[in-house]
Formats: sequence, structure tokens, C-alpha cells
Amino acid sequence: MPGLVVAGAQWGDEGKGRFVDYLASSADMVIRFQGGNNAGHTVVSDNKEYKLHLIPSGILYENKPCLIGNGVVIDPKSLFEEIDSLNERGIKTDNLFVSLRAHLVMPYHILLDGLSEKNLGKSGIGTTQKGIGPCYTDKIARKGIRICDLINEKEFASLLKKNIDEKNQQIVSVYKEKPLDFDEIYEEYSKYASRLKKMAVDTSLMAYKYLEGNKKLLFEGAQGMLLDIDFGTYPYVTSSHPTTGGVYSGIGLGPKAISEVVGVVKSYTTRVGKGPFTTELFGGIGDVIREKGHEYGTTTGRPRRCGWLDLVIINYSKRVNGLTSIALSRMDTLGGIGDVKVCTAYDIDGTITKDYPATVVEIEKAKPIYETFAGWDENLSNIREYKDLPKEARRYIEFIEEYTGIPVDMIGVGPGREECIVRKAYFK
Ligand code: GDP
Ligand code: IMO
Ligand code: MG
Repeated sequence: MPGLVVAGAQWGDEGKGRFVDYLASSADMVIRFQGGNNAGHTVVSDNKEYKLHLIPSGILYENKPCLIGNGVVIDPKSLFEEIDSLNERGIKTDNLFVSLRAHLVMPYHILLDGLSEKNLGKSGIGTTQKGIGPCYTDKIARKGIRICDLINEKEFASLLKKNIDEKNQQIVSVYKEKPLDFDEIYEEYSKYASRLKKMAVDTSLMAYKYLEGNKKLLFEGAQGMLLDIDFGTYPYVTSSHPTTGGVYSGIGLGPKAISEVVGVVKSYTTRVGKGPFTTELFGGIGDVIREKGHEYGTTTGRPRRCGWLDLVIINYSKRVNGLTSIALSRMDTLGGIGDVKVCTAYDIDGTITKDYPATVVEIEKAKPIYETFAGWDENLSNIREYKDLPKEARRYIEFIEEYTGIPVDMIGVGPGREECIVRKAYFK
């Protein structure tokens, strides 16, 4: 039963969307299993750029079902804006299905996300303010509203009432803001209900039937390893499991559904939002990489913090995700900047370690130990064969393979669908 996971191996924005788009050509179904519209996955096909937030990056292929699993939190306003904008551009979305069990992002989640961040000031998380954390909080607190609840009018009215009463207490007494109006939200979400009804199914069952038919399933992770609620740089994380473990509970399938895990690694490191970042470069080369690579957030437009590749993180990601393959993006961006560095260990209070620490306090103390490599100046964007890469770029890639013990099977040399070196046949 061939199932392939694409997981971000760093802090998100590694290029998952573009590799999912490539792999989707040989998959039968593409599935999102966690996160929400905090994600921003860019796909460039035929010189057209698509920024996907909730919809799986397989949507550009007709006749491949795309599922949004129960582990995803869905802001219906954002979902329908995305669907409408794709339809306007000639992309069909008839094959898009959402889980009946998926939780809904409600207006109070978005409001509370913003208020909480504002209240925390400097010590905030730097969230995307899409209501993701508050929505997952309600899910775990057993107060959430699911799609199956929304499409049952009575159930929805009663759940919404309970939630609005509770949230308004918080909004008014803690944050001193205006209370939310039940009728307004009820009316808005009732409109979404009629649209959602047509696309809401038991996605676990649908995926399982495909597996039983020996079809190829592609699981598209959002965010990345170090934003995982358990394994990331807590509390500077998102509220879901972007790691492989999230697939099982986020769509509802057993471990045999997965036969391969592709870790998407950017050839340097970026992070949006707050939290420790050991190899961060302040000014200088960091700014050069940001401008050369247009490293600004797909969802919020915030400048991405940039730094050198950190292989301690990639080995951590290998362990937690069970990586079997690496897709390395942006080798073109890393060229033309002189020597390049790779972090191979941390020095924490005089102790050398290759293991990623559990606490932010330790991570903040970590000093990166670097290996330096000669850079390359050639334009890589037309290269399609590994052997044609400059020898310095090959050395860089081989070092990643030696250190991690994982083959680098795909190499991005530009954002376009074709701008990629592929060294193995997936889904075999
Ligand atoms: P995702 O969230 O992991 O899907 O990544 P994003 O779409 O947020 O950010 C990745 C950015 O890098 C997008 O603008 C992509 O078009 C771009 N990109 C991906 N791979 C490559 C590559 O190999 N070279 C270049 N130049 N850009 C790339
Ligand atoms: P993709 O799928 C990069 C970050 C936010 C913030 C933290 C928590 O495009 O890789 P949240 O809104 O989730 O509560 O914010 O997580 N973050 C991302 N960073 N790429 C993403 O998604 C992200 N989704 C959330 O910037 O630091
Ligand atoms: Mg992104």
C-alpha cells in the first residue's frame, strides 16, 4: 500500500508545495492532515503562481481527489475564497473533499488569537493570527464545532450559543473588547453550511478505500518539524503535528498506509515568527539570502529570518519523522554568495552535542559549530541532471547525505515545476 508523506524538516516554508505538486503527478490522491490556513504553499506551473493555504497542492491536476482530513482546522471563509479564486483561474475543485470531523475556525478564534498576541506583546509567539491555536485549544477542550455539527442546524445553534457566551466573557472582561454577535455569526456560517454539505465526507473511509484498491496516496504536511506542538521549539510552535505521526490521527489510517517519508529541506534555514534559531544570520549574508530568495511569508508577508543550514535539525527530523528521502530546495538561491556554511553540532556551555535540546533555554545557549564549503556561482536553473551541477554544489549535497545517511533524491534549482533534478522514481 504505497503512501508517501511530504514533511517540512525545518520551520516551514521549505518548498513542500512545489514538491507535492511534482509528486502529485504520479499519485492518485493528495491529502492534507493538519494545520489550517496558517500554511502557505506555493506552486509555480506554466509561469503561473498559485498560493495554497488549505487546499492540497495536488489540486492543479484534474481528476485526482484532494482531501482535507479531520486533523486540519478549517476557516470556511478562507476555504471558499481559495476555491473561488482557483475556479476563476480555470482550476476545477470538484474533486475537493473535507472531513465531516474537521473542526471549524470561528471568528472568535481569530479575534482571540490577535488579542492574545497583542496582550503578550514582546513575549508573543508571532502567530499568523488565523485563529489556529484557539481553534485547536477548543478541540482538545472538547468545545469545538466540527463540520458535521455545522451542517446539523439545531446542533450548530446550540454549540455556537454556548461558545459565544463563554468567549464573550473572555473578550469583554479580560480583553475589554466589544462582544461578538450570535446572529451575525450564525447567519454567516449557515451560508457556509450549505456549501460545505456538498463536499463533506468521511475522508478516512474515502482514503481507506483508495488504499485497499492499491492506489497511491500522497500526504501533504504543512508547517515543519520545529513547529510541531510536541517536538518543536515549544512554546514557539504551531498547535498541530506537522510530523509523520500527525498523518495517522489527521486522516484516520494505520501505519501501513505509509511506505516513504520525504523530508523537505531548504538548502539554508528560514523561520517566520518568534523563537530560537541557532544558525540565524543577522544582516550581511542573511539579508542577501532574504532579498535574493524573496524570503517573505506566503501567508502574512512577514520577512523570513534567514540562516545557514542546520544538520542537527535535519537529523532530529530524520528521527522523529522517519525520513527516507530528502527533497532539497533552493540550491539556486544559495549560489553566488561566496562560501557557504553548515552547522554540524552545538556547543552548549562547553558541551558538544548533535542532539536537539528540549528547552528553549538550552537552544538559546547553543553556539553553532560550522563546516565551511566553497560556494558556486553558476546559474543552476536549467540543470536537470545531477552530474551537471557544479562540483561545489555536489560536494554540499554529498555532505548532507553523508551526515544524515539519507539520499537527496530531489533538488530544486528554481521555483517552477520543471526546475528540479529528480534522482529516483517515487511510488514504485
Ligand atoms: P511551503 O510552505 O513549504 O510550501 O513553501 P512556501 O511556498 O511557503 O515557500 C517556498 C518558496 O520557495 C516559494 O516561493 C517557492 O516558489 C520557492 N521555491 C521552492 N523551491 C524552490 C527552489 O528550488 N528554488 C527557488 N528559487 N525557489 C523555490
Ligand atoms: P507552511 O505550511 C512557516 C509559524 C508562525 C508562528 C508559529 C505559530 O507554509 O510551511 P500559528 O498561526 O500556527 O499559531 O503560528 O508558526 N507558522 C509557519 N511558519 N510556515 C508555515 O506554514 C507556518 N504556519 C505557522 O509564523 O511562528
Ligand atoms: Mg509556506
